[in-house]
Amino acid sequence: MMDALQLLHERRSCTALTDPAPEGLALENILRAGMRVPDFQSLHPYEFLLAVGEGRVRLGEMMERAAWASGRPPEVVARAKKMPLRAPLVIVVVARARQSALVELFEQRLSAGCTVMAMQMAAVAQGFGGIWRSGWPMFDPNVSAELGLGADDQIVGFLYLGTPSAPPKTDLPPTDPAGYWRML
Ligand SMILES: Cc1cc2nc3c(=O)[nH]c(=O)nc-3n(C[C@H](O)[C@H](O)[C@H](O)COP(=O)(O)O)c2cc1C
Repeated sequence: MMDALQLLHERRSCTALTDPAPEGLALENILRAGMRVPDFQSLHPYEFLLAVGEGRVRLGEMMERAAWASGRPPEVVARAKKMPLRAPLVIVVVARARQSALVELFEQRLSAGCTVMAMQMAAVAQGFGGIWRSGWPMFDPNVSAELGLGADDQIVGFLYLGTPSAPPKTDLPPTDPAGYWRML
């Protein structure tokens, strides 16, 4: 297990991902980390859609149909089908709007966004790698329709997870907080 601060300070995303994907207890650990994000009123305002194996093919077909239905350029339509094949596991993280007189939709979506980071870190902590992706499918109404989402639901990320097939990047971007904070 990595030290928590080291994980937060030195984490890198990983695009070169191969088998094996996290499964069994490792996957459960990841999902549990997602479910421990700050969550006002414990609304659990999210859903995790898991695509592995043939599920990634189905997700790619959904994206291809959506790209076509949305009138995207032919090269985008052609690429759409292959997108989920870039990792052995893709988790589509959906902010699911819950009825609440107290918790705004934006707050619920922030909570759902936190799950992406938490799950990525839980994967890294267990020796896996991953990257949080978005792109046009995150905002495309036809992708949402293919996934059966409601009008107020919003995809907040495609979390690509697997085993790093290349060494992690070592060139950490600067994390000097100077210039990013001020006393009030
Ligand atoms: C909401 C969100 C969407 C993102 N979408 C993409 C994406 O579509 N493609 C991509 O290469 N990186 C995307 N990123 C950035 C990567 O997740 C990653 O942070 C970036 O490649 C920098 O690498 P690092 O995390 O190792 O610093 C996104 C990040 C966030 C928070």
